[in-house]
Amino acid sequence: MSAAPAQFTLFEFAFVNKNTFSFNHDGPIPWSIVQLFTPVPELPEDLDLKGKTILVTGGNTGLGYEMASKIIKRGGKVVIGVRSVPKGEMAKARLEKEFESADVTIEQVDMADFDSIEAFAGRLNSTIKKLDVAILNAGVYSTTFAKSKYGYDQHLQTNVLGNTLLSLLLLPQLERAGELEGKPARLMVVGSETHAFANWKKASCPDAFEYQTKQLEEGKSRQGYQTSKLFLLLLQRELAVRLDTSKVIVGDATPGYCATGLFNELNGFWFARLLERLFARTVHQGANLCLRAAFRETDESFHDGYFAHGKRYKTSQYSRSKGGRAFGAELWEQAMEILNQHLGDRIKIPEAKKDR
Ligand SMILES: NC(=O)c1ccc[n+]([C@@H]2O[C@H](COP(=O)([O-])OP(=O)(O)OC[C@H]3O[C@@H](n4cnc5c(N)ncnc54)[C@H](OP(=O)(O)O)[C@@H]3O)[C@@H](O)[C@H]2O)c1
Repeated sequence: MSAAPAQFTLFEFAFVNKNTFSFNHDGPIPWSIVQLFTPVPELPEDLDLKGKTILVTGGNTGLGYEMASKIIKRGGKVVIGVRSVPKGEMAKARLEKEFESADVTIEQVDMADFDSIEAFAGRLNSTIKKLDVAILNAGVYSTTFAKSKYGYDQHLQTNVLGNTLLSLLLLPQLERAGELEGKPARLMVVGSETHAFANWKKASCPDAFEYQTKQLEEGKSRQGYQTSKLFLLLLQRELAVRLDTSKVIVGDATPGYCATGLFNELNGFWFARLLERLFARTVHQGANLCLRAAFRETDESFHDGYFAHGKRYKTSQYSRSKGGRAFGAELWEQAMEILNQHLGDRIKIPEAKKDR
């Protein structure tokens, strides 16, 4: 891809987007300043993951690989979900070279493909005795528009629908682990602070997935990634009110802006490289932040939480607003309808357990 659209995206974000110069909690400038001056703690010495099995999707590279490596270091068994098996095998070989006792399994999954996700969840179900924690980390960022085979923007497909489907399909085995352990298993999605930079402020949109796809396709929005992370957060919050929290709890964590391959399309451009040099955390730091949320929070603080900068953090104003909550509820129905169309009664959709 030529660098021009990527540059355009960055300039548009910096100079046309009204969020850029917002100095409230949601703005990227306050976020970056807080990120720059917030020290990232190491994982606690006493974090012992022996006897735990932890799934990390997208664990062949970037933050996912780093999380897998840290889990193994603490004695945990890791199942890595990868789009490409050769890339997964390379990651496994690296981990086994680094840790003699590494217990790593590679399983193929394309998070943009419902059938692949269903097959993946089925394999995990039959091969893993007790899935203690699932970290849904795989995610995509692109400056070029692409549609999934189902007709949705690639960010919506992978980051939102893919993760939501996998969350639902993993619930039975997480619940089983929760019952066996006598404490809830954990489901954690890797979200993003960019959910707060999204211009999306609708209180209602009856066809949100189609509408957002069209906006991106027609060039009326260039916020595929940000909007997908907002939708993902809203859907995880909807899922949270539908869980039996004695068996499974759900949270969303962001590593903050990190130097990984995620923004490779932008990095041909000097301004992006400068931003990365000035502001980005290392993968080591980003993985520490996500894992602290996944393992150190109490069950009460983890559930329905959003974690950033090493603590439970406020989500965006819009996501907390009446309109944002109303839209979240509507989005849940729409997402369930899409998943239902593709999976029919092979997917069990939990009912809301309490009033919000
Ligand atoms: N880096 C940041 O600044 C930052 C900030 C906030 C949140 N995050 C989030 O952190 C997570 C990890 O990102 P990263 O920074 O580590 O980026 P990365 O290095 O690009 O890793 C992304 C991972 O997701 C996988 N993936 C992408 N599409 C997939 C698909 N359709 N099916 C299966 N796997 C797929 C990639 O697999 P391939 O190697 O096969 O492409 C890769 O393993 C993402 O959810 C991202 O949104 C990152």
